[in-house]
Amino acid sequence: MGRQAIVLNKSLSEMAGALNSNLSAAEKLNFLVQVASRSLGVRGCSLMLLDAKRKKLIHAATYGLSDRYLRAGLVEADRSLPEVMDGKTAVVVDTASDPRVQFGDMARQEKIASIIGVPVMCRGKVVGSLRAYNRIRREFTAAEEEYLITVANLAATVLESSGARVSAEGSVSTEAKTTLRRPAVRSPVRTVSFAHPSEEDFARLLDFYQIEWVYEPRSFMLEWEGDRVTEMFTPDFYLPGLDLYIEMTTLKPGLTSEKNRKVRRLRDLHPDIKIKLLARRDYDRLLAKYGHGPLAGAKTEGVGRTLFSADQIQMRVRQLAKEISQDYEGRRILLVGVLRGVLCFMADLMRYLEVSADMDFMALSYYGAGNGGEAVQITKDLDVGPDDRHVLLVEDIVDTGMTLSFVLAHLEARHPASLAVCTLLDKRVRRLTDVPLAYVGFEVPDEFLVGYGLDYREEYRNLPFIALVKQQGKEGDTAG
Ligand code: PRP
Repeated sequence: MGRQAIVLNKSLSEMAGALNSNLSAAEKLNFLVQVASRSLGVRGCSLMLLDAKRKKLIHAATYGLSDRYLRAGLVEADRSLPEVMDGKTAVVVDTASDPRVQFGDMARQEKIASIIGVPVMCRGKVVGSLRAYNRIRREFTAAEEEYLITVANLAATVLESSGARVSAEGSVSTEAKTTLRRPAVRSPVRTVSFAHPSEEDFARLLDFYQIEWVYEPRSFMLEWEGDRVTEMFTPDFYLPGLDLYIEMTTLKPGLTSEKNRKVRRLRDLHPDIKIKLLARRDYDRLLAKYGHGPLAGAKTEGVGRTLFSADQIQMRVRQLAKEISQDYEGRRILLVGVLRGVLCFMADLMRYLEVSADMDFMALSYYGAGNGGEAVQITKDLDVGPDDRHVLLVEDIVDTGMTLSFVLAHLEARHPASLAVCTLLDKRVRRLTDVPLAYVGFEVPDEFLVGYGLDYREEYRNLPFIALVKQQGKEGDTAG
């Protein structure tokens, strides 16, 4: 047996030992890529997993690669070594000339001359790719390919035994990737280390609503002089499911205008890129909605200015019911309300409808209820199945859109004949996830609203009108 064969064999037995240990899934995967990289004598290795849409590959465990390279950009699965998506091995002998290398310039700067990628398969489906990056231009031997395929199989075993759900289409469940991203206490290698606690809080909120995220996914060049880059910008988050970047300006309020400038420049250079700036004040308001952050305990002085009187509300609800009745003529609707704020609106809406309607309710666990780190749960599901029914989801307010996108995904999976959303209030300025709203009563500003079912710490739901919360001399200056 040659020297390399001995090294590779030995490394596989080391890996088997690690798999049979009490290390976390993240630690096991990091160990696999680290040992593989050293045993192959390459520059580095990365285990990449497909996002939920199977379009992007996201680095889940890496070794030997610089942060700069890892943030070069989101890897397009059908562009970068695309054969891997068909379950085949892809070899790039020369990164300088091969069009299958998505970030050729970055690869050269990283001194990566050749790459081999093999698929990571879970139950017959490609869920990601294991790649080895070499400093020199060369082919890879059959033994090296076979070795990497074995390591990819070991990684798949870790993914499956970590409780990862692999969807029918072949993407690893959000919870599994979340587990991989969570900082592992004993992990010796790369895990997410957030620059600021507020970023970690935000990641936890996204986890709760099962929204996939990548921290500091890539760096954009903003300014350059000739070949020299003079300014870069790395947004804090990328949400692959929404194709949205998020930049938070929660560190120092004084940095906001600087961040604003960078975001403007990025938009000028890349008009196709969606990026949202979450300023400190907006973020504090958002957290307060869940009972967290500096505004959560803010004192109130009762109810302030009325935004919509009882008469205005009734008039608008009647109009909405008329529109809905026309659109659903001849069909029986299943009205689904998301408890509890929706109660008044749903009761009035159904009384004005001129088409037959059944009703049902759903309830969800609440992020603020001390379980911030876990995923949202359906605490009350529908009593009747939505299958083949014309479902109209009714909400009192759509704010970030996270509740709605979770509920819509849940309902869509149960194959209703049709599915649409009717909300009384649309707080569009705070939207994080795009949700289709067929019927909207009123668009509202980013203020805390109460009445007609909406509460502030469980108060004021019974008011017949909608008003702002009055707070320490100001009106509505808190989250909603
Ligand atoms: C409100 C509202 C929506 C959700 C919208 O419910 O009824 O379900 O917030 O927020 P989002 O778009 O940011 O997800 P809340 O959690 O306040 O509970 P409640 O209805 O019992 O008051």
